Amino acid sequence: MASAARSASRAFLRSTPSVRPAARSARFALPSQGFRAAPRRGYASEAGSGKSSNGFLWAGLAVAAGGGAYFYLQGGDAVASKEFVPGKEDYQKVYDAIAERLANETDYDDGSYGPVLVRLAWHASGTYDKETGTGGSNGATMRFAPESDHGANAGLKHARDFLEPIKAKFPWISYSDLWTLAGSAAIQELGGPAIPWRPGRADRDVAACTPDGRLPDASKDHRHIRDIFYRMGFNDQEIVALVGAHALGRAHSDRSGFDGPWDFSPTVFTNDFFKLLLDEKWQQKKWNGPKQFTDKSTGTLMMLPTDIAMTKDKEFRKHVERYAKDNDVFFKEFTDVYVKLLELGVPFTSKAEDRYIFKTSA
Ligand code: HEM
Repeated sequence: MASAARSASRAFLRSTPSVRPAARSARFALPSQGFRAAPRRGYASEAGSGKSSNGFLWAGLAVAAGGGAYFYLQGGDAVASKEFVPGKEDYQKVYDAIAERLANETDYDDGSYGPVLVRLAWHASGTYDKETGTGGSNGATMRFAPESDHGANAGLKHARDFLEPIKAKFPWISYSDLWTLAGSAAIQELGGPAIPWRPGRADRDVAACTPDGRLPDASKDHRHIRDIFYRMGFNDQEIVALVGAHALGRAHSDRSGFDGPWDFSPTVFTNDFFKLLLDEKWQQKKWNGPKQFTDKSTGTLMMLPTDIAMTKDKEFRKHVERYAKDNDVFFKEFTDVYVKLLELGVPFTSKAEDRYIFKTSA
């Protein structure tokens, strides 16, 4: 039923090629996402990142193997120490709080913070270098300059700030676990597959920030894509599956310089990115901005040079075709590789079989 509603809304949207309003209306036509027409809230997304947990001074957060034994100072003195080892139901509460906030805070972009949460989890993880073992989701070093100021991370403050109230409510979770859990939750809440997740990341300080240039540059070609993703330890099939996340969200001219959504339902996770990549005729956009492509049919969608590069390279294209043809195959292979991405460089003591699968809202 839910997917019928999605297909119907997409069919409608395709015949109504006005991107922003159409994309916005998509969310109202999609009850399965749990979006509610909630009153607008006064939450300021610009509220100081990294200043969470006000009222408490978190003196130390010692995240033990896969969990959270923690110690803190309250009010600056009187050391209160308490040990708490969270279990699956505690992490489900974090998931639920993220899902609730996603459902309530709809006054953003196309109606959801979900896409930018997926991007935060990816950029936190995609700095991994398999040769040196540096970078990756273990550390959440994007809280600090210089990493927060790297060009590739422009706009991710919105995602980090969105999660601050969750961190304040569940101070025992590390930022590194929170950001990755939010990336999994967003995929699930936007109609995507269940993304198994496990805790075990510890936050690190500014010294662990990664150098600029580890994330992909959208203006480059297939060789650059391979250089960047092979460094993380991915193969061609995995790279293509991962980039399918561009079904979600949009590019912003004040962040990356690129502009527009990849498909007509940017708040629903589907294989539409691949379908459109093959079915549409993409032409270079005539504008005063970086080189990007626009669809011939409506002129309202966009593809990055790196997206188009995946149709030109024989090996990449094979997988683009597989995913365009079969949504189930895409969901399955995306799940596997997104789990791998979010776990890059994490010294887990838990086993892969111990991953949690969270209950999706509604
Ligand atoms: C060749 C690899 C990739 C390149 C060059 C690339 C580049 C970009 C660029 C330029 C944007 C627009 C940012 C903005 O202006 O707000 C973007 C957005 C996005 N990317 Fe990627 N990306 C790549 C791979 C990935 C992967 C692997 C994922 C996740 C698994 C991902 C998820 C997203 C999402 C969800 C958005 C939308 C964010 C929003 O709506 O705010 N991307 N990407």
